[in-house]
Amino acid sequence: MLDINKIRADFPILSQKVNGKPLVYFDNGATSQKPQVVIDAISKYYQEINANIHRGVHTLSQLATDAYEISRGKIQNHINAKFSHEVLFTSGTTHGINLVTNGFASLLKAGDEILVSALEHHSNIVPWQMLCEKTGAILRVIPMNENGELIMAEYDKLLSDKTKIVTVNHISNALGTVNPIKYMIDEAHKFGAAVLIDGAQAVPHLKPDVQELDCDFYVFSGHKICGPTGTGILYGKEDWLNKLPPYQGGGEMIKDVTFEKTTYAELPHKFEAGTPNIAGGIVLGTAIDYMNEVGFENIQQQELELLEYGTKRLLEIDGLKIYGTAKEKTSVISFNIEGIHPYDIGTIIDKLGIAVRTGHHCAQPIMNFFNIPGTIRASFAFYNTKEEIDAMVEAVKRAKMMLS
Ligand code: ALA
Repeated sequence: MLDINKIRADFPILSQKVNGKPLVYFDNGATSQKPQVVIDAISKYYQEINANIHRGVHTLSQLATDAYEISRGKIQNHINAKFSHEVLFTSGTTHGINLVTNGFASLLKAGDEILVSALEHHSNIVPWQMLCEKTGAILRVIPMNENGELIMAEYDKLLSDKTKIVTVNHISNALGTVNPIKYMIDEAHKFGAAVLIDGAQAVPHLKPDVQELDCDFYVFSGHKICGPTGTGILYGKEDWLNKLPPYQGGGEMIKDVTFEKTTYAELPHKFEAGTPNIAGGIVLGTAIDYMNEVGFENIQQQELELLEYGTKRLLEIDGLKIYGTAKEKTSVISFNIEGIHPYDIGTIIDKLGIAVRTGHHCAQPIMNFFNIPGTIRASFAFYNTKEEIDAMVEAVKRAKMMLS
């Protein structure tokens, strides 16, 4: 069991007031808050070991390099990657996906097919569309049902020898649906297709095991798991990473450079051109340590209670509809109130200290499916409480009264 008061004391931002009211932070799907240990680690890095990595023989450079590589190792262990060089530092999920789509430009030909799910964030749609434009490959969409669940019978029909890549999120950012990715990976592999999993919304709730999943790529952002913004990870199977050409050229990603020819460095450096976000990479390791100390079983138990309680309390409000009622879902509640624009509710409850996301959540195809402009999305983290849900429900009721 979590000692919720102790956990909340780790996050200085949670005790502040916003618009004169105690902050209720329910926009965790967009970014998580940061514990003191993470904030301190950033400051410690700049105070004590700041230097460029993989370059100097001087002591600080060695210390910074070691800390960066220790962090890579922590992330390798966390996701159970076979090799540390399969773990690439990126600036976030979007960067990781673009790195992969850019690489596939040299491997695809016209008529090849890419399967994308109907539940994707724009960052897992647009880069694939750009890849299709470049190569003549065709994008096909795995449809979903009214509950916001992908329809596996349709997925099975879409798979064929033409399928080269399947790309799907582990958990939907807009609806909270947990997708049956193990099944999807196994089926795709029967046709020799590679599978990329967008884990951005999954890693705050669970510990992915990339070897057990057998996915070819798994991408996520650090800022959603208590780490700094501008950090992320692309896990790729060694064979795939060796097959893909580098994404960016520059320092650090080379073995030898002459004006006639350049040879590239081994993994992971081949994909890590330029000076990276060193502090961010190191502190992402600190954030992952923190999440593991809290414990993912505890996190899941707390979030499940919040999801059940939040769903029940919100449904007490007349005219409120929840979008995303999948059997398997995480602590995200997307909702609307009949006749009221989500933005108006969001603006009023912000004045009451409640932070939620309103709009299309960078998932316009999902909004189009439900024929709505957007939703109000409350996304809970392990440091949230039922009392905060009560405050949100009261605020939504008040906003509804004012707007009806
Ligand atoms: N992708 C993030 C969200 O869902 C920003 O809010």
